[in-house]
Amino acid sequence: GMQVVLFDLDGVIADTAKYHFLAWKHLSEKIGVTIDEEFNEQLKGISRMESLERILELGQKSDQYSLVEKEKMADDKNELYIELIQTITPEDALPQIPQVLASLKDKEIKIGLASASKNGPLLLDLLGLTEFFDCIVDPTSVVAGKPAPDIFLKGSELLGVQPSQCVGIEDASAGVWAIKDAGMTAIAIGDVINLAHADKVLSSTCELTSNVITQVWHENHK
Ligand code: BG6
Ligand code: MG
Repeated sequence: GMQVVLFDLDGVIADTAKYHFLAWKHLSEKIGVTIDEEFNEQLKGISRMESLERILELGQKSDQYSLVEKEKMADDKNELYIELIQTITPEDALPQIPQVLASLKDKEIKIGLASASKNGPLLLDLLGLTEFFDCIVDPTSVVAGKPAPDIFLKGSELLGVQPSQCVGIEDASAGVWAIKDAGMTAIAIGDVINLAHADKVLSSTCELTSNVITQVWHENHK
């Protein structure tokens, strides 16, 4: 049966996607690039340096900066992001998330974090959710980021189960591709048009329960 649920963080466990967007918007404006919410969809699930690269490409400025300058920009963005998330408390977990985690624990289903963010452990601490996680995949330990399946495969490997025994939960298109390419069952949170490649799309975490997760897995393994 289903043994493991691997969670994305930003946009699934907490509404931090808006803080990533604000921090990138601030950085972009300083270098004369305008980004909007629609473009931001393409940054979801994508690593810090890769996100910067996409913003620079949008403004056709990729070759105007050295690697050192790019690293400084990424650091500045992260500094602002860390400032913005300081106000996060356990109240800021998205609806049902603490309940779902507790219910999965009760059912002895293992829980992993498969986030591209290097701030994952900090955020889980701010949210008071660290204790629920049996593993946090270090995004620097995998070579290829989402949409490659590596981070989800690493999660199943660390928890000692087959990919087919896992469900992944994502809000990003790139993340859903990663889950599906890993051979896992994908539940997406968000817009059904963006996320049609998932096995099931829920419009928000309000609809997420451990029973729904188990049912979607079973549907996929009949
Ligand atoms: C992903 C976010 O979870 O993590 C992206 O969806 C973000 O927006 C990426 O760029 C990397 O995060 P961080 O915190 O390491 O810059
Ligand atoms: Mg996300």
